[in-house]
Amino acid sequence: MISERNEVKVFAPATLANLGCGYDVLGLAIHGPGDIIIIRKSPETTGITIKEITGDEGKLPLDASKNTASIAAQAVLTQLNLEGGFEMEIHKKMPFGSGLGSSAASAVGGAFAMNELLGSPLERMELLPAAMEGEASASKAWHADNVAPGLLGGVCLVRDNASLDVIPLPAPSNLWVTVLYDPKIEILTSEAREKVPTEVPTHTATTQAGHLAAFVSALYEENYDLLRRTMVDHIAEPGRRELIPKFAEYKERAEAAGAIAFGISGSGPSLFAISHGELSAHQIADTFKFDPIETYVSAINRQGVAVL
Ligand code: HSE
Repeated sequence: MISERNEVKVFAPATLANLGCGYDVLGLAIHGPGDIIIIRKSPETTGITIKEITGDEGKLPLDASKNTASIAAQAVLTQLNLEGGFEMEIHKKMPFGSGLGSSAASAVGGAFAMNELLGSPLERMELLPAAMEGEASASKAWHADNVAPGLLGGVCLVRDNASLDVIPLPAPSNLWVTVLYDPKIEILTSEAREKVPTEVPTHTATTQAGHLAAFVSALYEENYDLLRRTMVDHIAEPGRRELIPKFAEYKERAEAAGAIAFGISGSGPSLFAISHGELSAHQIADTFKFDPIETYVSAINRQGVAVL
């Protein structure tokens, strides 16, 4: 089972969770930001040792029992009933506390890299529990809406978080995303989750269920007009908007520039605009070129985590 390779380097992409209508159950992977994770065999040591983390401004733990990436990698070893000595490097090429699934990227990268180093004994879908274990250690909650698209690529629906029943959805090639990220705002997922009501009225639940079901249909049909009507969040966004002072202004400007949908990426502060076509996605980004924010324009990343 153990491969002949001594080292594996992978790239795990950033992801957008919730997508308006699917709080905790929808996500998609993008190109550009993400994590590079390296794992190499280290026969003279036991367990996983984190040798280096870059791009985190010293904020992430080097202690392998506390780091999302190493927890996920260790979970793969445990799942396979294997032991050994390994060194890990984590190079963050994305902001964290940004709503772009930073902890999920680390977890996905850690699990995937370990599996590759071991000769790929597990399928991507089989790595979900290990990646989730890493992600949950950071987010303190059990939702696979970042981990699933990071691992599988494309757009993913989590039918059931408890059992990690994940359903890949179509990823229309003309569906583009513009991400607006304000580095001055850092929102911890755990804090943003406190802004979401623990109970919602039945009419809110039914409205949201209607939107989510129609969203799935819109992806299958590549029906952008229907998509526009579905990516609406009545559950998480109302409480979370207040954490992002320019939410209303940016939404109005993005829609004026052609966005067919707009919302909070995951727990924020990043915001996303959905476009029909690359040109529109760049036009939206251009609208914000004089604002003190960063923008990413991307088609859907269908591949997910990949060996470099
Ligand atoms: N679904 C999660 C949330 C995603 O909105 O809290 C966090 O990245």
